[in-house]
Amino acid sequence: MEHTNKKTYYYFYTPSHLKNFLKEELKKFRPQWKFSYSKGALLTYVEEGENTLNYQPVFAFQGGVVHWKSTSREECEQFIFKQSDKDPKIKWGIFSMDDQLQTYIVGTVKFRVKSFQHDTWNENQSNEVLDKSIPSRAYYKIQQIHEELNLFHHGEVAMEFGSAPGGASHFLLQKGLKVIGVDSGDMNPVCLNHPNFIQLKKGIQKITAIDLKEIAKLEELKNDVDWIVSDMNLPPFIALKEIRQFIFTHKKFPRKGLVLTLKMTKIDMVNHLNDIELKIQQLKNYRIHFMGILPGHHQEFALVALRQ
Ligand SMILES: C[S@@+](CC[C@H](N)C(=O)[O-])C[C@H]1O[C@@H](n2cnc3c(N)ncnc32)[C@H](O)[C@@H]1O
Repeated sequence: MEHTNKKTYYYFYTPSHLKNFLKEELKKFRPQWKFSYSKGALLTYVEEGENTLNYQPVFAFQGGVVHWKSTSREECEQFIFKQSDKDPKIKWGIFSMDDQLQTYIVGTVKFRVKSFQHDTWNENQSNEVLDKSIPSRAYYKIQQIHEELNLFHHGEVAMEFGSAPGGASHFLLQKGLKVIGVDSGDMNPVCLNHPNFIQLKKGIQKITAIDLKEIAKLEELKNDVDWIVSDMNLPPFIALKEIRQFIFTHKKFPRKGLVLTLKMTKIDMVNHLNDIELKIQQLKNYRIHFMGILPGHHQEFALVALRQ
């Protein structure tokens, strides 16, 4: 058999505070990749053999396969120009590896989280000033998740656990959803005074069948919760346990899916992404998307589970 010495190089972009998470993730899910180089937001890996980038790492907002390296940007552009002629469907990007020596890499763009369409990560991105009409930054998180996956539609019903002070609820209300907010904390008046908003002012554990019956009567919601959204500041496995318990106890299997933000309390959590996925899939046959990069620079990720 002919032996080829083919190597495949990969590149990834991630904000610096998530670099270690990405490294840990790749160590677990692509152990055959060897770390090659990192500068700023860029990391590269090398593998002996063919391309095995057939999944999207949770903690990278952009990534792909490296095809060319040069110190001349012009040369890189020419390379892309020639390749694009051969296959116009492939997307290419030029990435700066080293500012001083001006080394560039040309790579195919395999995945890109929509809201961060920059060649390099802008560390100031999360420091954008919060608009006064927005109750919290969670507004931008749910907005990004929605823009990526086009989830929410007018007239749907969402139940949000950990809804106070109301950024995410406000976004959902603006999209025309009815929202049941569950949180013992105070909601911003922009949500509280909204005709399509109801609050259960208690923790998820304290919700009773009577609460849900009352809500169903008030809003004619019956059992039709389309979305369960959760943004509780609890350790991820505790949050998951509470959500699963709620769903099993009250038979509230959301018709469309779940959108959960989970705190990455320890780097070790990366090793449990599979367990988390399994726990959600045990609820129903859900298709799972992980999104690791959310606005706000918090160490958290989103899990979106959609009914098949
Ligand atoms: C990050 S804040 C949520 C921000 C909110 N989603 C927004 O859009 O503004 C976390 C919230 O989780 C709530 N929380 C913590 N434990 C909870 C529980 N067991 N049940 C319901 N809410 C909980 C807290 O009261 C807090 O308001």
